[in-house]
Amino acid sequence: MNRLDGKVAFLSGAARGIGGATAKLMASVGAKVVIGDVLDERGRQTAKEIETAGGQALYVSLDVTQEASWAAAMDAALKKFGKLDVLLNNAGIFNGKGVEEASIEEWHKLVAVNLTGVVLGTRAALPHLKASGQKSEHGAAIVNLASVAGLVGSQLDPLYSLTKGGVTLFTKSTALEFGRKGYRIRVNSIHPGVIDTDMGQQTFGRRAKARGTNDTEATRKASMTMHPIGRLGVADDIAKGIVFLASDDAAFMTGSGLVVDGGYTAQ
Ligand SMILES: NC(=O)c1ccc[n+]([C@@H]2O[C@H](COP(=O)([O-])OP(=O)(O)OC[C@H]3O[C@@H](n4cnc5c(N)ncnc54)[C@H](O)[C@@H]3O)[C@@H](O)[C@H]2O)c1
Repeated sequence: MNRLDGKVAFLSGAARGIGGATAKLMASVGAKVVIGDVLDERGRQTAKEIETAGGQALYVSLDVTQEASWAAAMDAALKKFGKLDVLLNNAGIFNGKGVEEASIEEWHKLVAVNLTGVVLGTRAALPHLKASGQKSEHGAAIVNLASVAGLVGSQLDPLYSLTKGGVTLFTKSTALEFGRKGYRIRVNSIHPGVIDTDMGQQTFGRRAKARGTNDTEATRKASMTMHPIGRLGVADDIAKGIVFLASDDAAFMTGSGLVVDGGYTAQ
């Protein structure tokens, strides 16, 4: 179940965090993984850890906001592994400022990474996913990192929410577009609650600041109480959902959103 034997996966923003955990899990269930990130040292380290554990991995420098960077990264991936079956659009940044507080430069940066990065990644991977989709029984797969912030409004993160809401509907729309065109590519999104990664830490910092304190431990606890399951998520919680969506076990899923949020949006 949930195996990725023989599949090649490209993961953006996978030097650390959710992407890093997913690269490791994918490799452990049979995939060859390509890690693209701006954090070169950390990315090479993650690839090395995968190889040390017996997996196959390649690190490539990638700035998801740049079309030429995607083209070079895809070339390197194809040169190394010969095909592409899975794309994970995972690279993302957080802002955590209100509509009045964020600068327009911060907004443009957020859009560049969280939205343009997803569009460019999808376009760069498309010819390769189309090719492999035609050859495999259940087609190729794209998984996009949305968020609970792409499903419900967030009083502290309106700009981040806007980008993640865009990812949610881009996922459904590309699933429909590719279906209409006869491409055999499934597209699904995943919607994490608060996950204890570097970005998770940033959310605690921003929330503390919004409350006029530096007490991130208090905001971490407050964040925990928003999750009925009684804890924050860890990167592996999300990696398992991504591996499912990328695998043939999700063969009848496209245009869907998998919510992995400890009950955050159930209330
Ligand atoms: N942590 C959470 O609570 C949470 C919740 C919901 C959704 N998400 C989403 O999950 C994804 C991963 O987040 P994470 O928690 O692992 O955060 P993280 O900050 O640990 O990882 C994000 C990765 O993206 C990379 N990245 C940033 N800008 C990039 C660029 N221009 N080009 C290439 N790579 C770039 C970073 O270097 C980093 O490795 C993001 O899309 C995030 O919005 C996170």
